Amino acid sequence: MGQPLSPPGGWQVEVVASDIDTVVLATAAQGIYDEESLEEVPPAMQTAYFLRGKGNMSGQVRVKKDVARLVKFQRLNLMDENWSLDGLFDVIFFRNALIYFNRETQEVFLRKMLRYLKPRGYLILGHSEHVPWLNDSVEALSNTIHQLRAQKRPAYNGPERRRRRRQ
Ligand SMILES: C[S@@+](CC[C@H](N)C(=O)[O-])C[C@H]1O[C@@H](n2cnc3c(N)ncnc32)[C@H](O)[C@@H]1O
Repeated sequence: MGQPLSPPGGWQVEVVASDIDTVVLATAAQGIYDEESLEEVPPAMQTAYFLRGKGNMSGQVRVKKDVARLVKFQRLNLMDENWSLDGLFDVIFFRNALIYFNRETQEVFLRKMLRYLKPRGYLILGHSEHVPWLNDSVEALSNTIHQLRAQKRPAYNGPERRRRRRQ
C-alpha cells in the first residue's frame, strides 16, 4: 500500500502543465505510463505515487489521484503575446521544446519565462539544450538546472515592456 502524499516541509504543491496541443494535454491528464518509464524512479516513490495496472492494463502504471489532483492542465501557445498564467513559480520545466523555434524566438520565450519565476527560482531545460546567452540572468548549476540570479530582473524586452515604455 502506498503512503499518503505528504511533501516535505509541509509544502503546498501545485503544478501547471501546459502545451499547445489539446490531444497531448488530454493524454497527459490520463497519467498513464508504461512501467519501463519508471525505471529511474526510486521504488518507494513508485509505490507512493503510482498504481500498477492489472488485467488489460498490465505493464502500465497510473498516477495516483492524490498526485494527479495537484496538476492543472492548461493549453498555452508560447507564441501568444500574453500567457494566461497566474502567479510566480518556484520551478519551470521546459524540456525538449526549444528545438521548434529559432534562436531569436527561443530567447524571447526563455526571458519571458524567467519573469514567471520567483526570486532564485529554477529553470530546468533538456540535456541537449544549451543557453549560454541566458547567463546574464541565470546561473547554470548543471547541464540542465539554471537558477535565476539574485536581484536581477531578467532582461526580457518583449512587447509588454515596449508597450509600457510608449505609454
Ligand atoms: C518534443 S515534445 C516535448 C514534451 C515534453 N516537454 C517532454 O520532454 O517530454 C515538444 C512539445 O512542444 C509542444 N509545442 C510546440 N509548439 C508549441 C507552442 N508554440 N506552444 C506550446 N507548446 C508547443 C508540442 O505540442 C510538443 O508537445
